[in-house]
Amino acid sequence: MGTVISNKKVADGIGLLVIESSRGGNPGQFYMLRAWDNYPLLSRPISIFDNDENTISFLYQVVGEGTRRFQELRAGDKLHMEGPFGNGFPGVEGSLALVGGGIGIAPLFYMAKAVPNADVYLGFSQQPYLTDAFLEVSRSLHVEVGGTILSSIDFTEYDKVMVCGPHGMLKAASDKHKEHGRPHHVFVSLENRMACGVGACLVCSVKCRDGRKKACTDGPVFPVEEVVFND
Ligand SMILES: Cc1cc2nc3c(=O)[nH]c(=O)nc-3n(C[C@H](O)[C@H](O)[C@H](O)COP(=O)(O)OP(=O)(O)OC[C@H]3O[C@@H](n4cnc5c(N)ncnc54)[C@H](O)[C@@H]3O)c2cc1C
Ligand code: FES
Repeated sequence: MGTVISNKKVADGIGLLVIESSRGGNPGQFYMLRAWDNYPLLSRPISIFDNDENTISFLYQVVGEGTRRFQELRAGDKLHMEGPFGNGFPGVEGSLALVGGGIGIAPLFYMAKAVPNADVYLGFSQQPYLTDAFLEVSRSLHVEVGGTILSSIDFTEYDKVMVCGPHGMLKAASDKHKEHGRPHHVFVSLENRMACGVGACLVCSVKCRDGRKKACTDGPVFPVEEVVFND
């Protein structure tokens, strides 16, 4: 159980929840959160946005009942938290590009803090948010509104590229990697629907080249060449 320190609106339908907690986690890992007792039935997977000794924060987009309940949280409220779960982003030696689309920027901030020489590319369909915060922790920041942020990146300039965003963006990263990438060069963080978060229910099953894997325990971060993307 965590205690809410603050819950601020950072853009329309986007909130930043800061929780008092020393449980921690690594960049790219996630927690299963619930701000309710019985309904909705399932906790919701949300990536670690930022973390220090006594606090952990989550950036969320309101899309349905669960995230709407997150939006109602106030300082002093309690939040059920299980985690951290998932493999997180791999370690990086050399140059790194972090590429986020929409709420897919959420796991990248903590990674940018951990690897301070990263070039960060953020794509938004409308109003950008938290760009000043990203600028502080990155070597360079590129922001695109309404376009396709992937088209401004040359994968071959980087030792590693990590991408998180909507399905179409991950598929585009996969296509681009087929032209220019090497194995274990480009990684994608998947946001498949999840139920248990701990490998027990198979709801998060991902089609991979060598069979099906679980986004919650084998991922959510995968080398892009492992994942089979449907059109
Ligand atoms: C590993 C992981 C990390 C995530 N990190 C974040 C994060 O940091 N911030 C954030 O805002 N969201 C994140 N998500 C997505 C988030 O879990 C869902 O948006 C949330 O569970 C929706 O709950 P809801 O009750 O508000 O909406 P629901 O009522 O459950 O769904 C409302 C709508 O959202 C869609 N939806 C539901 N779950 C997902 C999902 N997993 N991905 C995409 N669309 C979904 C549904 O299809 C439906 O259209 C993450 C998902 C995963 C798997
Ligand atoms: S969410 Fe249950 S197995 Fe992954």
